Amino acid sequence: MLRAWDTNFQPAFTTGRPVYVQISELLANEIRRGRLLPGTALPGTRELAKQLGVNRKTAVLAYDELLAQGWLESQHTRGTFVSSRLPESTPTAFAPATDRPGETPGFKWQDPFEPELPGAAVPGALIFNDGTPDARLAPIATLASAYRRVLQGRGRRNQLGYDSPLGSLPLREALSRMLNQDRGLSTTPDGICLTRGTQMALYLTAHLLIKPGDVVAVENPGYPPAWQTFRLLGAELAPVPVDAEGLCVDDLEQLCRSRPVRALYLTPHHQFPTTVTLKAARRVQLLALAARYGLAIIEDDYDHEFHYDYQPLLPLASADPHGVVIYISSLSKLIAPALRVGYVTGPAAFVEALGRLRALIDRQGDTVLEQAVAELIEEGEIKRHARRAHAEYHTRRDTLAQILRQLPGNQLDFVLPAGGMALWVKFQDGVDLERVAEELAQRKVIITPGSRYYLAPPATNALRMGYAALTPQELTQGVEQLGAVLRHYRR
Ligand SMILES: Cc1ncc(COP(=O)(O)O)c(C=O)c1O
Repeated sequence: MLRAWDTNFQPAFTTGRPVYVQISELLANEIRRGRLLPGTALPGTRELAKQLGVNRKTAVLAYDELLAQGWLESQHTRGTFVSSRLPESTPTAFAPATDRPGETPGFKWQDPFEPELPGAAVPGALIFNDGTPDARLAPIATLASAYRRVLQGRGRRNQLGYDSPLGSLPLREALSRMLNQDRGLSTTPDGICLTRGTQMALYLTAHLLIKPGDVVAVENPGYPPAWQTFRLLGAELAPVPVDAEGLCVDDLEQLCRSRPVRALYLTPHHQFPTTVTLKAARRVQLLALAARYGLAIIEDDYDHEFHYDYQPLLPLASADPHGVVIYISSLSKLIAPALRVGYVTGPAAFVEALGRLRALIDRQGDTVLEQAVAELIEEGEIKRHARRAHAEYHTRRDTLAQILRQLPGNQLDFVLPAGGMALWVKFQDGVDLERVAEELAQRKVIITPGSRYYLAPPATNALRMGYAALTPQELTQGVEQLGAVLRHYRR
């Protein structure tokens, strides 16, 4: 007769959960950890009850549970054993492991990503990066009360259940009206897929367009987060230069003649990072070229509202008779990046497929937020905010331009952009902008060297200096620091 295993522990049972469940979990754990190997004889229920200080019925229930789950097997007249059909496992020590558990994956996987996660805000720093909006101006109180109304079911909308993967209908209706009236598009609510920002829109769009080995043309310099998405899906990126009139469409045409190009990603309104606007003649040329070569144009219109010097050109999508443009935008620049509301519009069949794909990674968006934003659009609050922010950012653009021009030494130059939220400031070749950025970071001023936005050399020696998120005082403080660092190069 095998000697039965002595449980050798006194568990502290917790209240609120049946004791027999706690015993069965305890034993299952011991088996998983390898302390109880397959074939180990267990004490009879009377003995187990005595060892654990519970009544026998509880011990019987615990064994029944483990027998039903397959951890134990009962052999007629011989007793109860750890199932012999479990895989052998090596016992692990009771003592906690010295290295942190879960740090090294115990399985094969792929990590195709850039080593660093996109940056988060640095508390207290002046951030000139990129061209983010000033979230301090956002209509937070109005949004919060609309959100509360929707959540509590007090508003006209109180749908808190599953919704269309395309996003909540009221917001699609409101955006469709806005896009048609203000941006010259002809959308319907069914032709819009809401996403959590531009990045998700790009990811979904790229998924439907790109197969491994496909060529995707991108502006050079351009927007690396989009490139990373295309690369993840196996695309080969082909850089197309940008000049004072925007994307060089002749170069794109040459590329299309030499090899099949699946898609072009571009930022025609205010090119990222150079801020130039794609001129009208190039737009006409580009649309015709896309139709001729079956090229999908992914138009990222990320800061449409902020154009100061003349009426903005309408998006490419507003003049697309061939169904070649996929139009992407978001509220990240208009209100604040944390809202995560973006959208895609394009040919109807494509948008429908986007919805099906979206449902696989995120059943639907934040429908409460979407309904609240819809209320704000309908009540004119978003337009009021856009007007206020427009005036403020216009002043900030001019302030930054003025104080940069006052810096002594003629080390930098820029063309005042007609719109957007950033300046593209070029520096003399002798100025090492990597070092400038490092020294500024020590002084809590964050600026990204422009070389990061180039897919292929040569890179212009430039900085993209966002101004929208900083007040005139903050802009002045930041530029004073820049001036102090630049003095080093004049010595
Ligand atoms: C070129 C470009 N597109 C889109 C966005 C907005 O991205 P999202 O809507 O994912 O916040 C940004 C923000 O920095 C951007 O620079």
